[in-house]
Amino acid sequence: MENKNSTVLLIGGAGYVGSVVTQHLLEMGYAVRCFDNLIYNNHAAPESFLGHPNYDFKYGDLCHPNALENAAEGVSHVVLLAGLVGDPITKKYPDESDNINANGVQDSFEILKGKGIQKLIFISTCSNYGLMEEGVLASEESTLTPLSLYAQAKVAAEEKLMSIKGEVDYCPTVLRFATAFGLSPRMRFDLTVNEFTRELAIGNELLVFDADTWRPYCHVRDFSRLIAKVLEEDPDKVAFEVFNAGGDENNFTKRALVNEIVKLLPNSKVAYKEHGGDPRNYRVDFTKVREVLEFEPAYSVPMGVKEIIEQVGNSFFKNLEGRENHFGNYEI
Ligand SMILES: NC(=O)c1ccc[n+]([C@@H]2O[C@H](COP(=O)([O-])OP(=O)(O)OC[C@H]3O[C@@H](n4cnc5c(N)ncnc54)[C@H](O)[C@@H]3O)[C@@H](O)[C@H]2O)c1
Repeated sequence: MENKNSTVLLIGGAGYVGSVVTQHLLEMGYAVRCFDNLIYNNHAAPESFLGHPNYDFKYGDLCHPNALENAAEGVSHVVLLAGLVGDPITKKYPDESDNINANGVQDSFEILKGKGIQKLIFISTCSNYGLMEEGVLASEESTLTPLSLYAQAKVAAEEKLMSIKGEVDYCPTVLRFATAFGLSPRMRFDLTVNEFTRELAIGNELLVFDADTWRPYCHVRDFSRLIAKVLEEDPDKVAFEVFNAGGDENNFTKRALVNEIVKLLPNSKVAYKEHGGDPRNYRVDFTKVREVLEFEPAYSVPMGVKEIIEQVGNSFFKNLEGRENHFGNYEI
């Protein structure tokens, strides 16, 4: 296997996305260092990597400058994934959210200066678009309408990163992720595709709010491919650039998503209701990532649905009782 002589620091690398990125980068020959405070007691996710010769785990909090500085020692690239992720968890813990997602993340952009880091990828979200006019696709240039504390902190962090052009010695890139789906060593069933599929696969009736609202989705393995692509790309192409991360064909309404699941689980019971608590409705344009980085997702939403149904059939994820927090962001 090719040894890339590069160590990638994954801040928040023990989470749902980070665990799959770890796997992918190790397979590509990178050394991976994970820096994470295992805020959901999500120890089980990184455990399987512990014996790998190119894997290194550093326990610590992004908000502690010394811990972050130590973790960044000698690394070539940084991917910043850490934070309280999602609208519900940030609403439940607004102070911690401010502390981590706003202050901790923005301070880290400063702390990581002058450390010999080549690239820094900040993982943001398409939730920044919040509510788009019917029929209008959100491009990187669209007005941002962050509706939650979660998205507001991402928008503020993006602005901070873009504002320090000329002051940093690393090459920063922002990836605005679509909503993730697919299998990971740390599953999350508080994400739409995973949640809907599991609920129907275990035989529960599913209640769907606002069925005709749009959302883009992307498989966690595709996010890993895209992160690797940015790491390998000519810095001129990615420095201080923002990319929507996903693919046009994975924009779905909730109703269309349910229809895909029902194709595989025809006996499903689904009820629909309007006026749920989540007003987000956005369909996203992925032209830039396709044209500039030649990135297209390899995994469709139906592929992700199928892999979860298969594993429920193998008796995984049936009974989460007592382990809910390993499978979603509920409590810190
Ligand atoms: N999952 C999605 O659908 C989605 C969509 C858009 C954007 N994103 C972004 O992708 C990134 C990863 O999301 P995820 O789904 O893997 O979330 P996750 O909650 O599974 O992972 C986050 C990780 O960060 C760690 N963490 C939290 N606070 C920390 C702190 N103070 N110091 C160190 N580590 C800390 C947690 O322990 C966890 O391992 C996030 O930045 C998120 O905003 C995710």
